[in-house]
Amino acid sequence: MTGLQRVTVAGDAPYDVVIGAGAVRELPLLTGTVLAGATRAAVVHTASLAALAGAVVEVLQTAGLAAEALVVPDGEQAKTAEVAAGLWGELGRLGLTRSDVVVGVGGGAVTDLAGFVAATWLRGVRVVQVPTSLLGMVDAAVGGKTGINTAAGKNLVGAFHPPVAVLVDTDSLAGLPDAEFRSGLAEVVKCGFIADGAVLELLGADPTGRAATTELITRAVQVKADAVGEDLYDTGRREFLNYGHTLAHAIEKTEDFGWRHGEAVAVGLVFAAELGVAAGRLSRAEADRHRELVAAMGLPTTYAGDFDQLRGVMAIDKKSRGASLRFVVLDGLGRPGILTDPDEAWLRAAWAAVEESA
Ligand code: GLY
Repeated sequence: MTGLQRVTVAGDAPYDVVIGAGAVRELPLLTGTVLAGATRAAVVHTASLAALAGAVVEVLQTAGLAAEALVVPDGEQAKTAEVAAGLWGELGRLGLTRSDVVVGVGGGAVTDLAGFVAATWLRGVRVVQVPTSLLGMVDAAVGGKTGINTAAGKNLVGAFHPPVAVLVDTDSLAGLPDAEFRSGLAEVVKCGFIADGAVLELLGADPTGRAATTELITRAVQVKADAVGEDLYDTGRREFLNYGHTLAHAIEKTEDFGWRHGEAVAVGLVFAAELGVAAGRLSRAEADRHRELVAAMGLPTTYAGDFDQLRGVMAIDKKSRGASLRFVVLDGLGRPGILTDPDEAWLRAAWAAVEESA
């Protein structure tokens, strides 16, 4: 796949995700379209991305905007009420008005934070997302979920605030550690299982995901765009993006977020496939394909833990409704559905299939 790819996310205010090497160079074009009328810009980034953020600031300044870079801490340290409050202060100092713009440059934590600050400043200003991690490119930066973490939990405070554009510059992936890249690939393979068989073929042929990165990102973004374009507020089809995530969220919490998101999702995908088999909805061969592909990608397929504890955590997952335990399962590859309150025996069978033996 050569040249820049473009996926449009439908909705009340449709927006484009531009994908490929050098995609960030599309930024000046935005000033004449989705950013028309903006005179100030706040570019939120971490210290490690100062060079890229500086280039973004320069491009915006050349286009006539008063742009300034605002540095935030790395990773989840950025997603706090204190950091958000600091940014609100900076936006006040910059005099950012309703017609101005916030740009988020970084991984999923930074784009979540930048989106949240944009959603809340003056009850909503435009945001452009420039994700630099694979996870951010295929998930966090697309779809308009923004938020911060609080003492009550991760992502419990937030807003739906779709960006006006997402620039996925694959050149940013050059410096990404392999483990982070693999973690992002877990969300990509998830998209293959729930919707796009070509993703499974591509990863089967090259489990590193390096040979066809732009095509894999484009396909994963298309799967996400199809879901959120129809269901921004997560009341229906968007929930299918949660495939593998019920157990994954429980693992992340149990591990005090010491596991990478994608690693937990990888185990969660194998668990969800086994649950589908136990429920009589997925074939053994299809579940085996999950395990084989996830393992070939260098992601974990087993987890050493206490199932009763995980089960308790799953019951209070933010995706659960009332007292129900809900899972996304497949009725065959590419056919996601919901399984509510599965039989205890099915849960135990799926757990036995991913439990790491001592
Ligand atoms: N990460 C799942 C969603 O955006 O709904």
